[in-house]
Amino acid sequence: MFNKLIDPYPKLSYLAEDELDFSPFSAVAVPVFPSDEIQIIKSRFITALVEFTKLDLNIELANWPDFTAKAGEIIEVPISSENLKRIYLVGVGESNNEDIRKASTSLGRRIKGNNVTLLSALSNNKEQIVNQAISFILSNYQYTLKSEPKDKKPEFVIYGDFEEEIERAQIMATAVWQARDLIHTPSNIKNPEWLAKQATAMVSATKSSSLSISVKSGRALKDFGGLIAIGNSSPNPGPRLIQVSYAPKGSSSWPHVVLVGKGITFDTGGVSLKRPYESMTAMKSDMAGAAAVLSATVAMAKIKPKVKVTALLMAAENALSATSARPSDVIKQFGGTTVEILNTDAEGRLVLADGLAYADLELDPDYLVDVATLTGAASLGLGRQYAAMYTRKIPLAKKLHELGNKVGEKVWHMPLLDDYAVALDSDIADFNHLADKFGFSAGSVTAALFLEKFVGERTWVHLDIAGSGRSETDAGENIKGGTGFGARLLIEWLASF
Ligand code: BES
Ligand code: MG
Ligand code: ZN
Repeated sequence: MFNKLIDPYPKLSYLAEDELDFSPFSAVAVPVFPSDEIQIIKSRFITALVEFTKLDLNIELANWPDFTAKAGEIIEVPISSENLKRIYLVGVGESNNEDIRKASTSLGRRIKGNNVTLLSALSNNKEQIVNQAISFILSNYQYTLKSEPKDKKPEFVIYGDFEEEIERAQIMATAVWQARDLIHTPSNIKNPEWLAKQATAMVSATKSSSLSISVKSGRALKDFGGLIAIGNSSPNPGPRLIQVSYAPKGSSSWPHVVLVGKGITFDTGGVSLKRPYESMTAMKSDMAGAAAVLSATVAMAKIKPKVKVTALLMAAENALSATSARPSDVIKQFGGTTVEILNTDAEGRLVLADGLAYADLELDPDYLVDVATLTGAASLGLGRQYAAMYTRKIPLAKKLHELGNKVGEKVWHMPLLDDYAVALDSDIADFNHLADKFGFSAGSVTAALFLEKFVGERTWVHLDIAGSGRSETDAGENIKGGTGFGARLLIEWLASF
């Protein structure tokens, strides 16, 4: 009866319409739509529920005159019919994807940490079912290294014949969950070698012949000047280039997407030490881009789209040490471009430049996409709800914008302002990477302009997720810490090929 279970995530399944039976459930959720005179809308489900509970839900509603049915508003009706202990009357607002996510996370949070088996009938639209299910799971995310963790968790059952939708939701929620686990892991545990091991384990767990992984380290990285300059700052096992490929039989004639992820396992700033010091605490999440591209690529084994995908995780620790790069060093990026380092805290663009140039020169991508917690400036401009998206390809930008709204990872198209490119000039190298000359102060834009120098003629998109990659509060789908931003958007986009 309970189809398709995933563990250790909260269980998620669907209940076929002709199997409707309330007796196994301890809670039921019913949608309420805003109107002048709010009433529970009759349906087969509601009729059966009323019959089972002998409860007039409209009388219950009338007890709450302030209830407006705005998305996420909840009335909790206690009851005792066999196992059933609670009926949640849930406002679903406009009942679009965004409001369904709000309603679902609000409900998910309400029962988080409890052994509740919830039957939910908040929507019957396929797209919304996917969103509802993902939001349930993500609102219950937790990461704990407590010595005695609490392991109570709810179980979500969505009413209706939604096998495909629940499967899609499980794939996407799993990807976000995995990315979050990687991001939440403290940096005394996660170093580049650890990340490579996790990626290897994730790939082999799929048991899919369409996925493969290779890891470059040591001498094999000798042409990757950015990765070396940053990664050699750490006494931990040095930098890694982790390459994960989704290339099923026949994929050589398909479009090829290369995803490059910033994988700084901790960012102290290096010699140009981060200030204020408190801002450093969040920097275990500086590999959120790598986490997103990894988990999205691994998800391809189940989605099986007709697109070849290569993920490049640029993994390095940016430590403060005697082997850190110095402000004024000049390095040679992959492909030979020389770059003057002026601030070792602008390390992300140096490791990404190697990845982008490697993709352009060696991998022949049709699409080149990088995802990076690159600049504090991105969150100054857009806050935490939107990622800054840079690309010269307007239709592609529109598509990603739409898909972002659909899945709840919103991106805003930002301008690559050529007027600011002169800030990248250097007296002694091809470029400087800091671009703080002339006081243009568009830090997210100039970082994007720097990256663009390494993408050749490729169709390229840069997502600066410094804001959206991390939440500062426990709210909605997120807990304080890594959000896993990018995984859903990438999966949705790749699935559309
Ligand atoms: N990892 C940071 C960017 C960041 C800041 C991510 C806040 C998440 C939250 C990046 O490496 C960095 O330090 N960027 C500098 C660039 C500056 C030195 C040009 C920044 O944004 O201040
Ligand atoms: Mg930095
Ligand atoms: Zn960084």
